[in-house]
Amino acid sequence: MRTMSHPTRRILVTSALPYANGPIHIGHLVEYIQTDIWVRFQKLRGHECYYLCADDAHGTPIMLRAEQEGLTPEQLIQRIWQEHHADFAEFLIEFDNYYSTHSPENRHYAELIYHRLDAAGHISRRVITQAFDPEKQMFLPDRFIKGECPRCGAVDQYGDSCESCGATYSPTDLKNPRSVISGATPITKESLHLFFKLADFEEMLKDWITSGPVQPQMANKLNEWFTAGLQEWDISRDAPYWGFEIPDTPGKYFYVWLDAPIGYMASFQNYCDRTGLNFHDFWNPDSTAEVYHFIGKDIAYFHILFWPAELTGAGFRKPTAVHCHGFLTVDGQKMSKSRGTFIKARTYLQHLRPEYLRYYFATKLNDGIDDLDLNFDDFLQRVNSDLVGKLVNIASRCAGFITRRFNGQLATTLAEPDLYADFVTAGDAIAQAYEGREFSRAMREIMALADRANQYIDEKKPWALAKQPGAEAEVQAVCSQGLNLFRVLIVYLKPVLPGMAGQVEEFLRIRPLRWDDARTPLLDHPIAEFKPLMQRVEMAQITAMVEASKESFPSAEETPALPAGPLIDDPLSPTITIDDFAKIDLRVARIVKAEAVTGADKLVRLELDLGGETRQVFAGIKSIYAPEDLQGRLTVMVANLAPRKMRFGLSEGMVLAAGGKNGIYLLTPDSGAEPGMRVK
Ligand code: 2FM
Ligand code: ZN
Repeated sequence: MRTMSHPTRRILVTSALPYANGPIHIGHLVEYIQTDIWVRFQKLRGHECYYLCADDAHGTPIMLRAEQEGLTPEQLIQRIWQEHHADFAEFLIEFDNYYSTHSPENRHYAELIYHRLDAAGHISRRVITQAFDPEKQMFLPDRFIKGECPRCGAVDQYGDSCESCGATYSPTDLKNPRSVISGATPITKESLHLFFKLADFEEMLKDWITSGPVQPQMANKLNEWFTAGLQEWDISRDAPYWGFEIPDTPGKYFYVWLDAPIGYMASFQNYCDRTGLNFHDFWNPDSTAEVYHFIGKDIAYFHILFWPAELTGAGFRKPTAVHCHGFLTVDGQKMSKSRGTFIKARTYLQHLRPEYLRYYFATKLNDGIDDLDLNFDDFLQRVNSDLVGKLVNIASRCAGFITRRFNGQLATTLAEPDLYADFVTAGDAIAQAYEGREFSRAMREIMALADRANQYIDEKKPWALAKQPGAEAEVQAVCSQGLNLFRVLIVYLKPVLPGMAGQVEEFLRIRPLRWDDARTPLLDHPIAEFKPLMQRVEMAQITAMVEASKESFPSAEETPALPAGPLIDDPLSPTITIDDFAKIDLRVARIVKAEAVTGADKLVRLELDLGGETRQVFAGIKSIYAPEDLQGRLTVMVANLAPRKMRFGLSEGMVLAAGGKNGIYLLTPDSGAEPGMRVK
């Protein structure tokens, strides 16, 4: 019989909606894994819990990215949706609904919320002056303008801040400003914008914050924002823009951040329509259901100021809590393309089992907002020693005896009921840790139990008993006890290791485990033959994954979002041997032809003469070099790079350039060098 020691709660949970212009990477996965574990825990406890997400499909970067790829925005977001959906599924992130903000439901709620806010006087309208690209005929967000820093003179700096000296300024302060999109010099232009009057909600927000919906560090942030003063929020963008046109306001669109969080509701509405659930039970102002948003600390402003204010102004309930987390570092440093630590979900999946990462993140996650480090040695060690060495070991040491000697039948009583009871009791603290997002504590407590189970088996030594005549019953008792302890641990780990839990359910021939099943041991029950549950991680797999993630010079096709960050994001590379270096065939090449590539803002198509042989190479250097200036120049190329099929044609090598915050500099040999010469 199932005993329910906790009343059923109705819970809605969301993770931030990833932008539909780039792949999911391990940095994203911290959040999705954290949320998924929490949701699975709630479901395992028997609560009614729904996990919703969607692609964040609007905005300028997506519009430009589509253009760059020669696609319509609809085609691009459709493709990315498929990729995201597949990546999440393989990481066992189980959304109840994965939708898109470019959906009829989202348009409906964006318009509804806007109309209600407007009717209540929370929208203002005024003309503002902004940078405008006269060639592309569009207004330019700050990040789409580059120029020289007004303070230190560093070239190639964004319109809002200098990466070299840290100065912040407005785009009009930049020297020699140019549009990242067309290269044209921006002009200023006036336009009518719509604003959300955030300050109308100051009292409500101050009041809300006292009810504990955010972590203490975020509450402090919020107080800083109150002190700085709540500004009106610009919620409109001028055409051309990829998003929802504002009702009765031709040529003006909702800013992507207006309709993005509304996408949480839209995804839920879509789910309700499919399942018959009632949307308003969850979103009406008096709802007793719980709503939680899991987000990165960088987007807190949108979620703990604008979002609750919009919801209140439009007559909906506020979130129960907004849970922020920190960023991922790898081996103590920012993820880096050149070091190979900017690892895409897809690349990870080609080398390692997803549950390794789920478990590793679980051992590192807590309810705070500190950054979390993925250290590869530690990763290997944790997974191999905890999961393979401790957890799986319990089952593999007991299963064989039950199968071979007792025809797969577990004993009829527990040998050590007190030990079992201890495992059950420990479940309360573990549940509390899960509930409070203290996953690292939960994992520690579970592994302490695994140690005890192993100690028990070490003490009883079933392998020795098995050789003693007359100890048959004891062998069965000890191994059944061991397998029952193992089963309890699997219940506790099921939110983190759902795939392995599934394998164990098959092995034990039981229906899907629920949290309360831990209270009742599995006795006098036939089990199946034991199959290995998890392989050890090998360093070679990690190394291969890192190698596959290395990008020495990102091609324009792979650079995720416009505008691109610094081309080379860190100067240090791992040491290589002379043999490694000798593998690279560097040659002097003459650029015989250079031309812009239609549909790619950053690419130049080069025809290179290698002393008799001609190669085609696409290089992402158009922002710095006019193609006509390149013709006739000598440079250095990697001649034995595997050809890459790009949308524009085959790229048969790579030209070398120095790159950094201050620009890109194509390498040129001293005069006298001839095409085809080897560079050593
Ligand atoms: O920062 C981001 O990646 C956004 N796409 C998150 C949106 S979360 C929600 F508000 F939609
Ligand atoms: Zn500067």
